[in-house]
Amino acid sequence: MPLPWIKKKNIVNRVLPTHIGIIMDGNGRWAKKRALPRSAGHAAGSSNFKTIAKYCNKIGIKYLTVYAFSTENWKRPKQEVENIMNILRDYLKDTSNFKDENIVLKFIGDINVLPADIINLIHEAENDSKDATGLILNLAINYGGKDEIVTAVKNICTDVQDGKISIDDISESLISQNVYTKGQPDPDIIIRPSGEYRLSNFLVWQSAYSELWFSNVLWPDFTPKDLEQAIDAYNNRDRRFGGV
Ligand code: FPP
Repeated sequence: MPLPWIKKKNIVNRVLPTHIGIIMDGNGRWAKKRALPRSAGHAAGSSNFKTIAKYCNKIGIKYLTVYAFSTENWKRPKQEVENIMNILRDYLKDTSNFKDENIVLKFIGDINVLPADIINLIHEAENDSKDATGLILNLAINYGGKDEIVTAVKNICTDVQDGKISIDDISESLISQNVYTKGQPDPDIIIRPSGEYRLSNFLVWQSAYSELWFSNVLWPDFTPKDLEQAIDAYNNRDRRFGGV
C-alpha cells in the first residue's frame, strides 16, 4: 500500500523495483555515537535487517539482496568476525525469521569456508524455504563481486577445456548464468546508507545498469520510510539502458 510520503503523482503509477540491493553500512558508527561496543551496532543492524526484509516482502518486492559480510571483512578483529557469525547463526536457528514470512532464503558468496555448523544451517534454511512464494532474500556472506567473476570465469574455462562449450559460446548471458544470482534479474536499485558513496565490491557484474541511491542515515536507523523514499526516487529516474 502506498504511503503518505510517496509523492501524489507516483501513487497511482508507482513502479516497484523488482530487485533491491542494500549495503547495510554504518553499524559501527551507530554504536560509537552511543558509546556502545561495535557488537551492539551489529545487533541493531541485524534487527533492522529483519524489519526491512519483512517490509520488502509486505509491499511486494520480489528480490532483496543484502550485503552482510564481504570477502574483505575477514580483516576485522577476530572477535568482531565471531560476533557477526553468531548473529548469522542465531538468525538461521530462528527459522520463524523466514518460514513464518513465506520468504525464500538464498545465500550468495563462498560459504564453504564458514564454520561447519553454519554451513549446515544454511543448507537447511535454503532447503526449508525453497518452496515459499514470497520475497526471495539473497544474503551475501563471504561475498565479493570480483571473486564471483573470477569463479564464473574459472567455471566457464573448465567447460571450454572439457569441450562442453566453445569460446564463441561465451556471452554476457553465459556469464550471468555463472554468477551466484543466476536466474534472477539484476538489481534495479542499490541502496547504500551511512554517507559512503561506493559499491565496495557488491554485485559488480549485476550492477551495470542499477540505479544507485545513497543516504546519510546509518543502517540501524534506516526505516521503511527511508526505503519508501528510495523507491520514490527510483520512480523519478529515467532508465534508458544506453538508449535515448
Ligand atoms: C557494515 O557496517 C556492516 C557489516 C560489515 C556487517 C553487517 C551485518 C549485519 C547488519 C548483521 C548481519 C545480519 C545477518 C543476518 C548476518 P560497519 O561495521 O562497517 O559500520 P561502520 O562503517 O560504521 O564501522
